[in-house]
Amino acid sequence: MLFLHSLPTFFLYLSFLDIFCVDATYTLVDNFSGPSLLTGFNFRTAADPTHGFVRYLSQSSAQSQGLLTVSSTTVKLGVDSTNKAPNGRASIRLESKKLYNRGLFMLDLTHMPASTCGTWPSFWTWGAERDWPLNGEIGIHTTPRNAMSLHTSPNCTISSTPSTSLGRIVTTNCDINAAGQTSNAGCGIESPSTSSLGTPFNAGGGGVYAMEWTTSGIKIWQWARADVPDGVRAGGASLDTSMWGTPQAGFLGGDCDFDRHFLNHQIVIDTTFCGDWAGALWGANAECTAKAASCNDYVANNPSAFAESYWTINSLKVYKQ
Ligand SMILES: *[C@@H]1O[C@H](CO)[C@@H](O)[C@H](O)[C@H]1NC(C)=O
Ligand SMILES: *[C@@H]1O[C@H](CO)[C@@H](O)[C@H](O)[C@H]1NC(C)=O
Repeated sequence: MLFLHSLPTFFLYLSFLDIFCVDATYTLVDNFSGPSLLTGFNFRTAADPTHGFVRYLSQSSAQSQGLLTVSSTTVKLGVDSTNKAPNGRASIRLESKKLYNRGLFMLDLTHMPASTCGTWPSFWTWGAERDWPLNGEIGIHTTPRNAMSLHTSPNCTISSTPSTSLGRIVTTNCDINAAGQTSNAGCGIESPSTSSLGTPFNAGGGGVYAMEWTTSGIKIWQWARADVPDGVRAGGASLDTSMWGTPQAGFLGGDCDFDRHFLNHQIVIDTTFCGDWAGALWGANAECTAKAASCNDYVANNPSAFAESYWTINSLKVYKQ
């Protein structure tokens, strides 16, 4: 150490080494698009683990009810927006067949569910259900703002330093039972603006979400179509995340063994209603509470409110270092 302090050139050498050692280059391993998305994923029909007011449909039911549309290049995942739904609104939840450890996950969309009272659309990954949250959860919940969060067992925290994220760091303890945080909050970062979400996001042709999961942390970027970096736009066989700048959410720098807390994750894309998240937020939103007595009432009785609650997915690509 003494040696280092007296030798600035050595410092320089070290920081060059650092740059070359931080491997941010990735190679495509899974390229799900159009029909291949459906072969890589299961349609969950079991009850919603987040307790939503929802009925998840099988692939054949979703197709016959017009909620699933597949072309050679896109997959549209909708919800029932024509029928009253006293037992929960029909929707789709895709769960990847493969499990992942670390990697870069790129979701390219032309449409995401618009922000509507009672909806809770998410793109996320999580460890085995029966052990939750032992193997962790990484969530991007797109309403009413992008709320990005990690959910773990005890002993995983992130830095509260704003320089790691463009978004606002709301909570820093990823433990779902952390003292001083709302139960189940985990560590959370909120997107800096609502403009690249829902209606404006869709009007601009959608965009791309990127989630990078490494041994040292998790970063999430989000770009509206016009701002998608060139390399990402080209959708190539390799990507370099070091070119992308500060992420919207950087879950970094605290005290967390990411390899222990995040294990064997399944990728999930779903739209649910009310339940643990949207149901809990209902009472705090005057615009929503003015519409109905409860979240479930609103979702059951206002099918046309959910006409824009669909995902149109161009591709989901997974890259590994
Ligand atoms: C968390 O850390 C404490 C203190 O080191 C330890 O006693 C406890 O077993 C840990 N809990 C988990 C779930 O790792
Ligand atoms: C990914 O799959 C799509 C659709 O099958 C294809 O057009 C595209 O070239 C693939 N991308 C790469 C990098 O292989």
